[in-house]
Parts: sequence; C-alpha cells; structure tokens
Amino acid sequence: MTKQKTILSGIQPSGKLHIGNYFGAMRQHIQMQEEGDAFYFLANYHSLTSVNDGGLLEEYTMDVVLDYLALGLDPNKCTFFAQSDVPQTTELAWILGCLTPVSLMEKGVAYKDKVANGLSPNIGLFTYPILQAADILIYHSHLVPVGEDQKQNIEISRDLAGKLNRAYDKELLIIPEEFIVKSVATVPGIDGRKMSKSYDNTINIFDEGKALKKRVMSIQTDSTALEDPKDPDNCNVFALIKLFADEETRKDIADKYRAGGYGYGHAKKELLGLIEGYFAEARERRKELVKNPDYVHDVLREGGKKARERAETVMEPIREAAGLYRSFDY
Ligand code: ADP
Ligand code: TRP
Repeated sequence: MTKQKTILSGIQPSGKLHIGNYFGAMRQHIQMQEEGDAFYFLANYHSLTSVNDGGLLEEYTMDVVLDYLALGLDPNKCTFFAQSDVPQTTELAWILGCLTPVSLMEKGVAYKDKVANGLSPNIGLFTYPILQAADILIYHSHLVPVGEDQKQNIEISRDLAGKLNRAYDKELLIIPEEFIVKSVATVPGIDGRKMSKSYDNTINIFDEGKALKKRVMSIQTDSTALEDPKDPDNCNVFALIKLFADEETRKDIADKYRAGGYGYGHAKKELLGLIEGYFAEARERRKELVKNPDYVHDVLREGGKKARERAETVMEPIREAAGLYRSFDY
C-alpha cells in the first residue's frame, strides 16, 4: 500500500463562522477528508492573538467543533482536534522562532495590514506565522489546503522547515507542498467588501429565522429601479446566489435580472430560500450534536491523542538534535 499524503489545515475559533469561511475553507476540508490522512484542528492558540476572554474562547471553540461536525466532517475519516491538545506545537514554534530573522516577520502581509488598519499588534500577532509553521510541520504534513490569503504563511513554513533542517544538518522536517484552494473567489459580505468577521458584514452559516432574514435583506445593492434590467455579474446578491444555486436556477435568476421587472428584493428572497435549503440538514444535525456534548468531547479527546502521538514522533528527534535536556518521557 502506498503511504497516504498527510493533509493538514486549521481554522481559528475567534467568532461565529460565516459563509465565506464555508466556501473558502471548510467545504474543501470536508471534501479532502476522503483524499488522504487528514488532520484538521481548531487553532485556539492563534485565537489568543485577538480573543483574551477565556469563556468566550471556549464558547467559540465549541461552536466551531459543532459547525464542522454538523457540516459533514467525519471523525472516522480524519483526525479532528484542538491545537491546545498538542503542546509540542508551541515547543516547535519556539525552536523555529529562534531560527527566524525578525525581518522575515516584518514582511508578513497579514501583520502589516492589521497595523495599517490601526491595530496595536501584540507579539503573538507578529509571530503568528511561526506558530502556523509549527502547526504544519509538527505532523510532517504534505498538503495544506488554504485560501489565497494564507499563501505567504505556507511559504514561510516551507522556508522555516528548510532553515531547521540546515541548522541541524538533518532531514528533521518535511517541506510541505503548496496547495492553494482556488475553487472559489472571495465571498463578498453584505456591504460588498470581502466577507469577514472584522468588518461585521457576515452572513453566518448557522444563522436562522429572523436573524438570517435581516442579514440577507440588508445586502447592499445599487438603486436601479425594479422595472429596469439589471446586471447579475455586478450584484452582491447574485454573487452569493451563485454559491448556493445549481446551474439551472442560477441561469434562471440571471435571465430574470436581465429581463427587468425583477427587483433586488425578489433576488434577496430567492437567496434566503437557497441558504435555508442548503444548510437545512446541517442545521438539524447541529441541533442533535448540541444535545450530545459527551460525544463531541470524545471526538476531540480521540483526535487530540492521535495528533499528540504523531507530533511527538516528529518532536523527539528535533529536541535531540537541538541538544535540549529532558529528564522525562511523554
Ligand atoms: P475572517 O476574515 O472572518 O476573520 P478568517 O481569516 O478566520 O476569516 O478565515 C478563515 C478561513 O476562511 C481562511 O482559510 C480564509 O481563506 C477563509 N475565508 C475567510 N473569509 C473568506 C471570504 N470572504 N471568502 C473566501 N474565503 C474566506
Ligand atoms: N491562519 C489560518 C487562518 O486564519 C488558520 C491556521 C492556523 C492554519 N494554523 C494553520 C491554516 C495551519 C492552515 C495550516 O485561516
């Protein structure tokens, strides 16, 4: 049997997950669990760069776990766990940090963007890519499915793996392949900018009823009159419809836009129905999972154990090569 490739990806539990997260990341994770030895984790150490309320972080973490399981992540097909269940990650991050020039972190686009937007950065945010590199390298991952916005972080992890191997003159870490998921363009938010929790422009995956309706109805559109023809390719509502509708429905709605007499209000109602239908089963599954917290904790406990065991096999030779004294076994 040929050895399967290790696939790894993570998502930060730092707020409710939105449909940008789903189409940009989670959907691909769920698909790829069939295609290799997949490791998926809740990047809760990363969330500490922005969430400093313990109760809130626990809540967000459980929300993301429930969301993933409800959407179809199958713990029998992949290893699903919390980053904080693998302390080797922060151990490796420290060692990598000691081989990382400050100038490399200063080039971080995500860091520079946040600073440009007036955020006063903490050291965790500055060294975020080192922790992300450790996440990837500690499992000897081959493939890291992420969105375009994560490209630089993957490159940094390749760079740091090479630095560590050269420093100790040994093949201690595998250099991961780049795997940028290109299947969706950036999902727009209700104001037309990139959907992001930082812009408060999201439609959350598990919003329902009035809350969902309110978000959909407030999507910004231009002021073309109801009777006039409209360009579907220049409309935030249609950009979202495209994600949820099948080919035929998509074409049908585009025709209605172009014909005129079809208002943005109609399109929004159509979108609302599509979103409700698309996530209906997941919504039911999530409600069942909420009633079964023991099962959810078992999933994380099992996943954490497997991830820790793998991480330790990678970490042990690194400690030894680095000359780190240790008087106990894990
Ligand atoms: P946010 O911008 O809401 O803070 P994150 O940066 O935590 O979202 O993104 C988590 C994952 O979801 C990343 O892999 C990212 O590529 C993907 N993602 C986030 N927003 C979008 C979007 N609007 N369109 C496509 N993918 C997105
Ligand atoms: N930085 C990623 C994001 O914001 C989350 C993440 C942390 C991650 N560690 C990772 C993604 C390792 C892939 C691999 O989406």
